[in-house]
Amino acid sequence: MSTEWTLESWKKFVADQQPNWTDEDLVQKVNTEISSYPPLVFAGEVRTLKQHLADATQGNGFLIQGGDCAETFNDFKADSIRDKLKILLQMSVVLTYGASCNVIKVGRIAGQFAKPRSSDTETRGEKTFPSYRGDAVNELEFSDISRQPNPKRLLRTYNQSAATLNLLRAFTLGGFADLNKVHLWNQEFIATSPQGKKYQKIATSIDDALKFMNAVGISSDKYASLRMAELYTSHEALLLGYEQALTRKDSISGDWYDCSAHFLWIGNRTRQIDGAHVEFLSGVKNPIGIKAGPSLTPDELVALAQKLNPENEFGRLTIISRMGAEKINDYLPQLVKRATSEKLNLLWICDPMHGNTYKTENGFKTRHFNTILDEIQQFFAIHQKLGTIPGGVHFELTGDNVTECLGGAQEISDNDLKERYETACDPRLNNEQSLELAFLITELLRNENA
Ligand code: TRP
Ligand code: MN
Repeated sequence: MSTEWTLESWKKFVADQQPNWTDEDLVQKVNTEISSYPPLVFAGEVRTLKQHLADATQGNGFLIQGGDCAETFNDFKADSIRDKLKILLQMSVVLTYGASCNVIKVGRIAGQFAKPRSSDTETRGEKTFPSYRGDAVNELEFSDISRQPNPKRLLRTYNQSAATLNLLRAFTLGGFADLNKVHLWNQEFIATSPQGKKYQKIATSIDDALKFMNAVGISSDKYASLRMAELYTSHEALLLGYEQALTRKDSISGDWYDCSAHFLWIGNRTRQIDGAHVEFLSGVKNPIGIKAGPSLTPDELVALAQKLNPENEFGRLTIISRMGAEKINDYLPQLVKRATSEKLNLLWICDPMHGNTYKTENGFKTRHFNTILDEIQQFFAIHQKLGTIPGGVHFELTGDNVTECLGGAQEISDNDLKERYETACDPRLNNEQSLELAFLITELLRNENA
């Protein structure tokens, strides 16, 4: 089926993973309401991010994308937003300093409220209710009422995204992210840990460098690039009615932009070439990610690139490989090779989380630090071997001291998981595990450039 793209053309295609809303009129009403609200991001910012991604595709820059698996209405607090920002800033400083590499910072934040699920329903004992599809749709609590999809939650999704983004902008532009404040981003609870100490060392070196620069007249009151951090937002573009409602025509370029976030990705379950998600995103100009699991064939990759990036524009498409440590070596190389032979301009990044999830005997969904690292190392090795560029990483992480993923320097064990297992969906790296990975990735990047 080939038709002209319009804001609504996706409706003629099959849209997987949509909630079974019971009151379609109300969904319509809510989305119409949202379509009258201000956009959350500005098209000019989106173009800047795309340019950064274009640079990274050509070996000039490295993308760090990270945040919660699912944001929640409950966890809507200044401290938790600040702490997620802190860890992203820390990780990017570690990489920038250690690998002399420009780091593009993209949060899974300010809009990551909808989840694809393997089943429409969940059964516990005698009871079966709709699956939890993210706070944009229903509530995590397992009860009949909580699990009913409620379109009014989309209004809260918009409002919470707006408020979260507002605080992020205040922090990144208002002085908190000034490079003179590097020490401030280290959380107290890791200050004395090996990772925390290693970070303090870098922070001190940066201070020294800044003192020197200050002496020669380059100071953060004069240079915005020292004073402000560039942070972009992203989420999975899953609920197409909501994404449509926030899609606007940019008055400068006349192009359509999905202004719910700077960067949108298509999940591994909704990337069908003839599906509604691919159709919808083919018409907006944002940079787009495609999650690539083992089931993605080289032919499908080429077809997706043709439909989503017919001009083969740099920065438009990012392939987020999420193969799993056991499979990456069997599946990623054929994709990269095919892309190379077709001359597709793609940014390759590694999501070492989603292919490595399993359930422990105690019933916790988890991931092991070593497996996560293993997948990242293989990702770098594959690109090194093929002469292509490992362009970034995609993590589920939090600034808090949670116990959701196993291993790392704190050696979190099966028995520790119950202590602070707080995620609404998938297990996230905690603060120290995230920082540790940043140090390890720095090593990989250094070898890459050596
Ligand atoms: N403006 C640059 C950037 O956003 C440098 C920068 C300022 C920075 N503050 C930062 C980098 C905090 C990392 C963290 O990349
Ligand atoms: Mn997840």
